[in-house]
Amino acid sequence: AAIEKGNFDHFMLKEIHEQPQTIRDSLRGRLLAEQGTITLSGLDKIENQLREANRIVIVACGTSWHAGLVGEYLIEELCRLNVEVEYASEYRYRNPIVSPKDVIIAISQSGETADTLVALENAKQQGATIFGIVNVVGSSIARISHAGAYTHAGPEIGVASTKAFTAQLAVLQLIALKLAEIRGTISRELFGVLLSELNEVPDKVQWILDNQVNHIQNIARQYKDARDFLYLGRGYNFPIALEGALKLKEISYIHAEGYPAAEMKHGPIALVDEMLPVVFVATKDAYHEKIVSNIQEIIARKGKVVAVVSEGDDTVTGLAETVMVVPRAHEIVAPLLAVIPLQLLAYYIGVERGLDVDKPRNLAKSVTVE
Ligand code: G6P
Repeated sequence: AAIEKGNFDHFMLKEIHEQPQTIRDSLRGRLLAEQGTITLSGLDKIENQLREANRIVIVACGTSWHAGLVGEYLIEELCRLNVEVEYASEYRYRNPIVSPKDVIIAISQSGETADTLVALENAKQQGATIFGIVNVVGSSIARISHAGAYTHAGPEIGVASTKAFTAQLAVLQLIALKLAEIRGTISRELFGVLLSELNEVPDKVQWILDNQVNHIQNIARQYKDARDFLYLGRGYNFPIALEGALKLKEISYIHAEGYPAAEMKHGPIALVDEMLPVVFVATKDAYHEKIVSNIQEIIARKGKVVAVVSEGDDTVTGLAETVMVVPRAHEIVAPLLAVIPLQLLAYYIGVERGLDVDKPRNLAKSVTVE
């Protein structure tokens, strides 16, 4: 049957609103919070390779590459295992060093991205183990992988990826937690805490959709004529800053740049003036004090600060021009929440500018040629 937009103006908006359900679908049957277990049959298949792996290499493009960056932080922190994240297009051509002890994690919504596919074929030939995190069942990347985990986000029609991204993050969370359990690098207690945190994500995403949409629409009206945007974040929220900037670029054609918040001093700060909206991904985490001082630095230069904050964060709320609120959560699952307001902001700015958000110019849903 043809996929319909239902009551939504665009597929992108529909897919944003589907996320409580699609994240639940990604976790279903895998995360059993009450029993305190994670089951991922794909990981079991390559358990020996994972035990012996020297490192994990994550290969992807676009939004999927941003999910990979979150995966790097997760796996390094929880599993104490070396992780590298590669753009498939670079990895495939630069004659990378691949060993049979490498586990390659491919991330792809479509499972058909040409650069990712060929990068994997090359690594497979050199003996690496390939694990696919793919949305489209039976796609080329799913087929050439030794094992994998489908994201179960359902068909994504909007060219700008939203629900496929959060499904990728959910699966990466499961992988990092399961692998930490296999490798014995996580305490029972933390494992239990993170399982229930992850289990609560769908309801928290629903809270954002129920409480922030109108407000974000107003923010979009206020900032729709900006020429540039800067997106800043630290730690787990750094890739979310990149993803927020990418969404805005794709949908609104406004130039946007994502940066690690501290790195802004090495360049982007030169752009800050009263015309520049700076979006901070500033949920409560170990970096919070640091990001507050980054916010102060932007305000001192008259930049307009828009911040994604955790509920009850009076400090950043007091400093910023406006805030988008997400429920409090452990920093490890926070990216799954923080990205939602940024998807909505990009969507509504695109709509305010009268653009075809489901089919942005020059972009393809799946890049199957080089
Ligand atoms: C295109 C799409 C993006 C996507 C990227 C990677 O650029 O427009 O939304 O993130 O390809 O696609 P994949 O299907 O491999 O995740």
